[in-house]
Amino acid sequence: RHRRRSPRRRAVNGAPGPLEAELLEVALDAAARAVDLIHTRRPADLGVRTKSSATDMVTEMDTASEALIREVIAARRPGDTVIGEEGGEEVGGDGGITWWVDPIDGTTNYVYDHPGYNVSIAAGVAGRALVGVVADPTHGRTYAAVRGGGARCDGTPLRLGPPPPLEEALVATGFAYDRERRARQGEVAGKIVGRVRDLRRMGAAALDLCSVAAGRVDAYYEAGLSVWDLAAGALIAREAGARLGSLDGGPVRPESVLATHPDLFEPMRELLLELGADRV
Ligand code: IPD
Ligand code: CA
Ligand code: CA
Repeated sequence: RHRRRSPRRRAVNGAPGPLEAELLEVALDAAARAVDLIHTRRPADLGVRTKSSATDMVTEMDTASEALIREVIAARRPGDTVIGEEGGEEVGGDGGITWWVDPIDGTTNYVYDHPGYNVSIAAGVAGRALVGVVADPTHGRTYAAVRGGGARCDGTPLRLGPPPPLEEALVATGFAYDRERRARQGEVAGKIVGRVRDLRRMGAAALDLCSVAAGRVDAYYEAGLSVWDLAAGALIAREAGARLGSLDGGPVRPESVLATHPDLFEPMRELLLELGADRV
């Protein structure tokens, strides 16, 4: 007879297991402190520099926000691995937990004081997020999800309603920083806009995924994200009932992201393939 492995205690019906509860608490605390730093105490001079291209900016607040988030994680969960956009990967001990941190997602919005920039923090094991938090200070909202435990916005459960037909879908997307690549992405977007209700480019991938979860858009797609853009928002969207995948039909990965209601997923994917969104 097989010995049955005792099931790993996990989130069921909104009650997170002890590990998830701890990770969620740390993520919420770190995100709240980062929001206080970047939003409440926004300095007049952000110290803007450019990175990979003229469109790819970083401010002193991106760096400061990430340092603060790393401090909170290190104090509560010493030994965890942390991967952040500005500070790279800090390999931890053998605890097995990895954090994915985008200290400011939507830096262009932040620099121009457009709404939608956010702090995105996820933690998980073996490349799978167990908890995700996206804090959006301009709208004063915090999204959180626990794997198997649902997604919430400020404590209110998020659940996708039935989707519209493809031609009535409001679709969000984003563009990479590389000039040629964004030009190709723009060409595809120009074709898509004639086939759906309308297109939105809000400027912050993590919040775009939360917008799918909250029903503010019907679908979101983008090519060329990084793991810190995707980790928290993808869990939030999935836990709200969205289907996530890549355009080749496989599991979602930063390079290829489509998030939408399960009934709209294949029609949306077919349209994107027809218009060449997989070749940007
Ligand atoms: C960017 C934003 C943008 C998306 C880019 C991301 P950043 O993140 O999320 O909406 O289109 O792909 O890189 O650089 O502002 O953290
Ligand atoms: Ca980002
Ligand atoms: Ca960022």
